[in-house]
Amino acid sequence: MPTVDNTTAVRLIPVSQFSDEQLAAIYNQTRVDYLVPMPMNAARLGEYVKTYDVSREDSLVATTEDGEMLGVNMLGLRKGRAWITRLGVLPNTRRHGVGQLLMESLIQKAEDLSIHFVMLEVIKNNTPAHQLFLKLGFYEVGELLVLRHSPLTHAVDPIVADARRLERHDAMTLVGWDRGTQPWTNQSESLFNAHEVSGLQLELADGSRGWLVYQRQKFLLTRFAFKTEAGDPATVAYALLSHLHNQYPRLDTQVENIQVNDPHLPAFYRMGYVEAFRRIEMWRGTPPPEIQKQ
Ligand SMILES: CC(C)(COP(=O)(O)OP(=O)(O)OC[C@H]1O[C@@H](n2cnc3c(N)ncnc32)[C@H](O)[C@@H]1OP(=O)(O)O)[C@@H](O)C(=O)NCCC(=O)NCCS
Repeated sequence: MPTVDNTTAVRLIPVSQFSDEQLAAIYNQTRVDYLVPMPMNAARLGEYVKTYDVSREDSLVATTEDGEMLGVNMLGLRKGRAWITRLGVLPNTRRHGVGQLLMESLIQKAEDLSIHFVMLEVIKNNTPAHQLFLKLGFYEVGELLVLRHSPLTHAVDPIVADARRLERHDAMTLVGWDRGTQPWTNQSESLFNAHEVSGLQLELADGSRGWLVYQRQKFLLTRFAFKTEAGDPATVAYALLSHLHNQYPRLDTQVENIQVNDPHLPAFYRMGYVEAFRRIEMWRGTPPPEIQKQ
């Protein structure tokens, strides 16, 4: 059994031995003092595990020998890459090495599966986690924004364009599989695993054109993937957003993990999106050639 502080034994138990209710409770206890409150319930946790290909066998809960809860850490697995997520240690147990033990254990599990490339995101200014990841050999690769848009108080006129709705199959064909070094949440697999995915494709009078693929949840539009195939990205993205919000004026929108240097970004601000918070994306190891940046 591994130890922390050189003496205290820690039991590492696969997440698969816990119900989603138990896991949500453990996770929430580790995040009571978190920078951005993001409580989970069992249903959301189950959805999260499926959407992000989290391996329940390879993810771990840490307890004392007596079964007292200490922390949790989860491992997502996809071809040639792994993702670490939901790391948390109970506040009164921190700074005794449990976080590091959980991290090293998941990195080792990925290594055992011959995966030498691990991705994660950390909220900007979360110094304890950022320091832990640097200590373990993760390096920064970029900054990501989480943007929000509230339901509209007035109608948005759609920009004049030749626009058409894309059903799931056509939307996913456009997204394709070539998105391996996107943040994990935005990779093709996340969209393929998600329900209610569809899209919009449009062409403007000057020949500019592009597409937007998104997930429509009951009260939320989210999981955006978009591409400008011709013309100015900010112009094409604004036209796409104008059609989207015209269609769904009453839904909240959350855009996760858009890169700070994404050329479509000005369109979001012009449409009234606001920044909720920022994350830093970190990698460990080199991305394998099959998922190099598109
Ligand atoms: C981040 C977290 C998991 C660290 O767990 P922990 O068990 O306290 O960490 P450890 O005792 O294993 O510390 C390992 C290393 O992390 C870094 N670290 C941990 N806490 C730190 C702090 N308060 N300030 C600076 N560095 C810190 C240090 O590099 C430390 O190594 P050192 O002891 O040689 O200095 C814990 O603070 C936590 O649960 N925070 C809330 C949830 C969270 O932020 N999760 C991560 C989301 S990305």
